[in-house]
Amino acid sequence: MFLRATGPALFPAARGLSTRASQVLSSLGINHAEPVPGVYDGQWRGSGEHLVSVCPATGEELARVVSASPEELHTTLDKAREAYKSFRLVPAPRRGEVLRQIREAIAAKKADLGALVSLEMGKIRSEGAGEVQEIVDILDYGVGLSRMMNGRVVASERPGHSILEIPNPLGVVAVLSAFNFPVAVYGWNLALSFAAGNATIWKPSQTTPLCSIALTKIISEVLERNELPGVLAALVTGAKDVGSAIVESEYVDMVSFTGSEAVGRQVAKTVQSRFGKVLLELGGNNASIIMPDADLSLAVPAVFFGAVGTAGQRCTSTRRLYLHRTIAPEVLSRLETLYASVPPKMGDPLLENTLLGPLHNENAVQIYERALETHKAQHAEILTSSGRYTQLAEGNFVLPVIAVPKHADPGLAGSMWSTETFAPILSVAVFDELEQAIEWNNAVPQGLSSSLWTRDVRHIGQWLGPAGSDTGIVNVNVGTSGAEIGAAFGGNKSTGWGRESGGDAWKQYVRWSAATINFSDAAPLAQGVSFAP
Ligand code: UN1
Repeated sequence: MFLRATGPALFPAARGLSTRASQVLSSLGINHAEPVPGVYDGQWRGSGEHLVSVCPATGEELARVVSASPEELHTTLDKAREAYKSFRLVPAPRRGEVLRQIREAIAAKKADLGALVSLEMGKIRSEGAGEVQEIVDILDYGVGLSRMMNGRVVASERPGHSILEIPNPLGVVAVLSAFNFPVAVYGWNLALSFAAGNATIWKPSQTTPLCSIALTKIISEVLERNELPGVLAALVTGAKDVGSAIVESEYVDMVSFTGSEAVGRQVAKTVQSRFGKVLLELGGNNASIIMPDADLSLAVPAVFFGAVGTAGQRCTSTRRLYLHRTIAPEVLSRLETLYASVPPKMGDPLLENTLLGPLHNENAVQIYERALETHKAQHAEILTSSGRYTQLAEGNFVLPVIAVPKHADPGLAGSMWSTETFAPILSVAVFDELEQAIEWNNAVPQGLSSSLWTRDVRHIGQWLGPAGSDTGIVNVNVGTSGAEIGAAFGGNKSTGWGRESGGDAWKQYVRWSAATINFSDAAPLAQGVSFAP
């Protein structure tokens, strides 16, 4: 593992850094020569364990971050609660105006922030920039939302009565985010939570603290300029103990968690046991299905991007591919050609021509290697080169793989089909009837994203209907990954049923009241009940 939590004394006061890395860090005001404060509660501080941020492509230590001590976390939560009490009274459109300024400030730093995402997370430049665009987009959405968080007027059965459904701010919302989208997923939550009038506290992945610090710096300047308490967008970096303390805290009204199914299960139980609200975005194990009438010139590149892009580290990455028997040889041969073209384009994600960056850390490489071994032990046919890419030994580079397991049934014990492997491994099976492919699509525990490639409207109807795909994102002639912010994002079943970003997701970040108001001179009971003494 590249991330270590150690005592401060083990680190020298200053160290050298490659020009490439120091340019990116200094463009965002991060002084890597000193331990970087990793807590923001209106002021920058940090006196907890040191986290070491490491570049996945080169192995170089980018900076040391001083995370939150238990006391600092406590104080931050206290302050957030206090700040919420006044912030909830700020009119929503005024909150939206602040979001607009945050949007402008982030957009002005898009290239630098995108480069930092590439440097610290490992995704290629265009995807790093795309991720920053995603936060800009959701902030735009938040601005609009601030004038559209509408309640309802419901018809009452009683004369002279009205029923209102009223959204009010919720309180403190905690966002526990993952390494793979180190800025956008926080943005999905912050934009909605802030528009809704909450204080938001962010615990980012312990392996991407610098992205969270750079983003919080930009946001904090806007808050301070608007004379709002900075703790409304608080940051507490740290390891698991910080996350657990947040999840357990009665001060946190809602926990929005992105991560593994195993950790999500614990988070859900803990938050539920204190009757808090929880929003989960857990594992994805997403399939594409290609029908004989599909336009292969669209389908093949989309599967390639879905499976190889971001080195297979999106929750929405394409992990399973179901091919109709008649087009399977053609699709596989085209994919094999594309996969063979990748190795010369592997390398530093910051370089313009790189197509495939590294996995995020050594742990991810081991997960990839174990999955590959299991595939081989189960006699899967491996159609591509595979394994660590030793030409780039200093980083976590692995070759993208296409595997054809011996059995297609995800229900078989020990089947590789049913687990999410967060790496560029695509499993392929051949089907004869769409019903079969849909059954396989639905037979795994996860339910995030899926896509069907066809030009037949009847297939589309089947796919989108009651007996169709059971995932939260169900695409047609669009790959499994790369969703826009406008619709609600999230998955069903073991993905956790959470919805973030657009659609009706904002409705979770408020507390709803049903208010019956009597404007009349009588006080009738509902349902015709009489209670006269
Ligand atoms: C994730 O992988 O957790 O749809 C988020 C997509 C991106 C977001 C992915 N817009 O692939």
